[in-house]
Amino acid sequence: MNGQRPRVMVAGATGYIGGGVLEVLHQKGFWIRALCREKRRLVNPKWCNEIFLGHATRPETLKGLCEGIDVVFSSIGIHSFKCQPSIWEVDYQGNLNILQAAKLAGVQQFIFVSVVRGAEMARLTPLAAAREKVAQAVKESGMNYTIFAPTGFFNDMSYLFNAARDKGVIYLFGEGRGQINPLSALDFGEEVVKAIRLPELKNKVLTVGGCETFTHRQIAELAFEVLGKEPCIKIIPAGMVWLIASLLRPFNYNAYALFKFFEFMARMPDVTGEVIGWRRLEDFFKNLAQGASLASAERALSLQPQ
Ligand SMILES: NC(=O)c1ccc[n+]([C@@H]2O[C@H](COP(=O)([O-])OP(=O)(O)OC[C@H]3O[C@@H](n4cnc5c(N)ncnc54)[C@H](OP(=O)(O)O)[C@@H]3O)[C@@H](O)[C@H]2O)c1
Repeated sequence: MNGQRPRVMVAGATGYIGGGVLEVLHQKGFWIRALCREKRRLVNPKWCNEIFLGHATRPETLKGLCEGIDVVFSSIGIHSFKCQPSIWEVDYQGNLNILQAAKLAGVQQFIFVSVVRGAEMARLTPLAAAREKVAQAVKESGMNYTIFAPTGFFNDMSYLFNAARDKGVIYLFGEGRGQINPLSALDFGEEVVKAIRLPELKNKVLTVGGCETFTHRQIAELAFEVLGKEPCIKIIPAGMVWLIASLLRPFNYNAYALFKFFEFMARMPDVTGEVIGWRRLEDFFKNLAQGASLASAERALSLQPQ
């Protein structure tokens, strides 16, 4: 590392996960360069020592991205119903372009965000397949690596909360009995800091989750409880999710990939990770109920006592 203050390049800094990681790295005094397409999408540009404008999917825009950098973190990815760009262009090739830039610059450690139960999920869903292929390339890169395989984050749970608030009904995929321990991006950021500092977290795949385990149905009930509304929860059976995915495949590959992901979640009895952190989903939902945006609902969690 360069002296006492490791230099970290954060890709995905404008997103929920990368934004949380950026905030914690800033709090802990790391030197930060953020890759972004549009500076205005950063929660707070002042947390960055440098902002590098570039597109992960266009390698010609990444020259110099990792020069002088010790550690690269990437959470770049899409979960969108838009047809273009595809997950193979962003989750796969975009992250490989960053990996290549890191290798060329002699970066010491690469930290990558894949998904919980990635190897199993990769057999069923292209979304996980794309990320697991990157994870494999990271392992073979010759750099020290830490691959995180997190369960769902609080922002994914916000879709349930928004449905309860805006429509008064939550549709769950499957019976909603599968277990999950959702994770805060700030808690995750603290784990990323440990992965940089602690040798025992290097060259590892770490399956992580938050401090409380719920069934999907309990999360839906929590959303209604925080909103003070009578629960209205409906089920879309896993077989129906499979059918929707199959019908979408010829027309919209990204939507197909998302529904295959939902199908996996609907069928899995347990997608929990090893517990890290202390932030609670109920507090996040309460912040959303007060009208906070996703980013500010997360930020408000840093103010709550441990
Ligand atoms: N959230 C979860 O529950 C969860 C759980 C496990 C794994 N993951 C993985 O982590 C990834 C990131 O999750 P997130 O919740 O942080 O997503 P997010 O909030 O949507 O952030 C995605 C990041 O990727 C960047 N990006 C998207 N499309 C891009 C493109 N075409 N070119 C360059 N950059 C692009 C975004 O940049 P812009 O701001 O410029 O669009 C943003 O910085 C997911 O895609 C998923 O594979 C997520």
